[in-house]
Amino acid sequence: MPTRFFGKISSKLRKLPGKVKRLSRSVTASQAQPNDAWALGLLTPPEARLYLSMDARDREHACRVTAALLAAYPDSSPELSAAALLHDSGKSLRPYRVHERVLVGLVPGRAAQQLPFGALYLRGQHPAIGAELLRRTGGRERVAELVERHHAPKGDAEAALLHQFDDLE
Ligand SMILES: [Fe+2]
Ligand SMILES: [Fe+2]
Repeated sequence: MPTRFFGKISSKLRKLPGKVKRLSRSVTASQAQPNDAWALGLLTPPEARLYLSMDARDREHACRVTAALLAAYPDSSPELSAAALLHDSGKSLRPYRVHERVLVGLVPGRAAQQLPFGALYLRGQHPAIGAELLRRTGGRERVAELVERHHAPKGDAEAALLHQFDDLE
């Protein structure tokens, strides 16, 4: 059996506890407490409007990712901070439904991209949708770019950092 196969499996297993934690938060966090006042200070007015259109649970997750990233990299660019807050804004197109979030969280990202319907489609496309929302509403271009790349950084060091901290939270 090739070692690459086992490497992949063990990396998936290592990510499992974090995934379970995130899923349980999406079920139980009906009283999500995103630090909106802090977040809004890092966003331009059009970006702030998009941020406020996100579900409270997504905002709380975004604040966690951003705070962890800034704690580790306090000199991050303002665009990276804003992108960390808005990285999942593409999910705001559809109302937050707990059962969908739980089911969708269990399907691997690449598989979700192949399914052109409902919540799974949105899960697969949310980076592109978020970037498009930012461009249409007048957000910064670099912020849109980072949002677009947050699941597939492809050589973009800042997007890779965002991807890394998103995975941890
Ligand atoms: Fe995402
Ligand atoms: Fe995320």
